[in-house]
Amino acid sequence: MNHTLSPELAQRPKTSHHASELPWWKRTTVYQVYPRSFADTNGDGIGDLRGVIGKLDYLRDLGVETIWLSPFFDSPQADFGYDIRDHFGISSEYGSLDDCHALIEEVHQRGMRVVFDMVLNHTSNEHPWFVESKSSKHNPRRDYYLWRDGRAPGGREPPNNWRSMLGRRGWHYDRTTDQWYWASFLPFQPDLNYRNPEVKEAMLDVVRHWLSMGVDGLRLDIFNALFKDAAFTNNPFSFRPVPSEDNPDGFFQQTRHTIDHPDTFAFARELRAVVDAVPGPPRFLVGEVFGAPHTLRRYCGEDADGLHLVFLFKSMRAPFSGPGVRAMIAEFEREFPEPFFPTYVFGNHDRPRSILRLGNHAGKAKLLATLQLTARGVPFIYYGEEIGMHHHDIPAVHGLDPIATHFRFVPDWVARRLRRSGILLNRDESRLPMQWHHGPHGGFTHHASSPWLASHPNSAEVNVAAQENDPHSILSCYRQLLAMRNRSLALQAGSLELLSPAGVPLAVVAYRRRHGEGERAEVAEVFLNFSSREARVELPALPDRTVFSTLRGAMDPSESRISLRAFEGVVVCQG
Ligand code: NOJ
Repeated sequence: MNHTLSPELAQRPKTSHHASELPWWKRTTVYQVYPRSFADTNGDGIGDLRGVIGKLDYLRDLGVETIWLSPFFDSPQADFGYDIRDHFGISSEYGSLDDCHALIEEVHQRGMRVVFDMVLNHTSNEHPWFVESKSSKHNPRRDYYLWRDGRAPGGREPPNNWRSMLGRRGWHYDRTTDQWYWASFLPFQPDLNYRNPEVKEAMLDVVRHWLSMGVDGLRLDIFNALFKDAAFTNNPFSFRPVPSEDNPDGFFQQTRHTIDHPDTFAFARELRAVVDAVPGPPRFLVGEVFGAPHTLRRYCGEDADGLHLVFLFKSMRAPFSGPGVRAMIAEFEREFPEPFFPTYVFGNHDRPRSILRLGNHAGKAKLLATLQLTARGVPFIYYGEEIGMHHHDIPAVHGLDPIATHFRFVPDWVARRLRRSGILLNRDESRLPMQWHHGPHGGFTHHASSPWLASHPNSAEVNVAAQENDPHSILSCYRQLLAMRNRSLALQAGSLELLSPAGVPLAVVAYRRRHGEGERAEVAEVFLNFSSREARVELPALPDRTVFSTLRGAMDPSESRISLRAFEGVVVCQG
């Protein structure tokens, strides 16, 4: 067997006549950078934009095309950037506007793309709009946010029964004007009033501004909460204690009047038209929305004229088994047929690291990566997944995350239980500094500095440098898979057909990707063994074949029948 890394590691997605007919965002691979934790160049212990620039070659060589950065706009950092004070400024700990321009340019110079995070739903309570809005009932900005009288007696009760996304009351009393304001998330993140045309226009200007700067796409924070019921009707009762990937209802309340409002679906199309009208190359929008894939597709518009993509967080929770994964793929295929396109996402800055539920098993992590990078959909890789960075248990009392503070009263054993079902009460746990090498702080910051979050205790063993030249490492596996994907139009954008080869156990998921028709069609086949038992499979006889195994590396292309090892993934593609 040949384990050496293929020479095409740095090869960008192939652009052929065929490829150019496909929108780039359908063929792309996205890598999420949490800027605070990626790379610190000035030694203040906080990652910065210059740090991201310094790692662009690493990302290009990894083989990803698009980088999505969590927010770095001016903010009091109460929610580490998801509380914006000035949509046009950069928070000083991350750098300057010049650094931001340099980042966009450096990304483009490498033939890559960059996606910014747009928090349209709310602002920081320190945003000048909110400061003005709060100052008096007669302030011209009063109607920029959602203010209501409390219920009788004496207005001491909130205006209605709505709960925030975190389960607690979402209305907050303000003494200055004796009224309550609404916040879908944390109290210091007041929701903007999208029924006020001035607000909508102002926020669309923010969108236009960043796209005109050359940004290639936007990730839209809690997009599903944008519009609420105009009459502020009470939400009906629900038996559900906690929301799930499939259903945002929870905390004994349906979200009928607060989430997935018909006006939000309509706004998705309005936003798309605005984005399409910005001069320059096509951009893309990906919505952070929660619920059943069937509902989420509505954000993409009946005629695919809404958001380009939505996160399908269900992929984070699909059972790690043949039947579980097959059912997930089948559902995504059914709900997102062409011209719609699914997404595969296994982790982010709000969720437990994906390897946690795999028992930190490197082989299983490679198998999951194979699924993510070969199924039909846009993969979103969370920083550190490519080296199998571990989750780290940090009790809520030590948490810097505002959710940890909000839920400080929850006992640790409950928090651990919730984490098993994908709910993270202390998100610091999945935001630890990126592990670059075995040195102090995993190479994230200067030796003498103290990082904003302590590095994972295993950073001396689990890091980029340690895996770079190891052909069996998780990093090598990602590189090989991405290189294959970048060469294969079938893997980037082909159709997907689930296969049920005779005699192959249900624990093996097999599918065929096909791009183009007839003789000129390009094909790839994928075999994923979700069990510890070996399984014999027949590899397809494709012309000019490359065979890659997550456990054996590049394989002899003439092999036709192989025995899949425990948790092994094999990809066969042309070219
Ligand atoms: C979702 C983001 O992913 C999360 O990190 C943030 O705290 C909330 N939205 C509020 O903006």
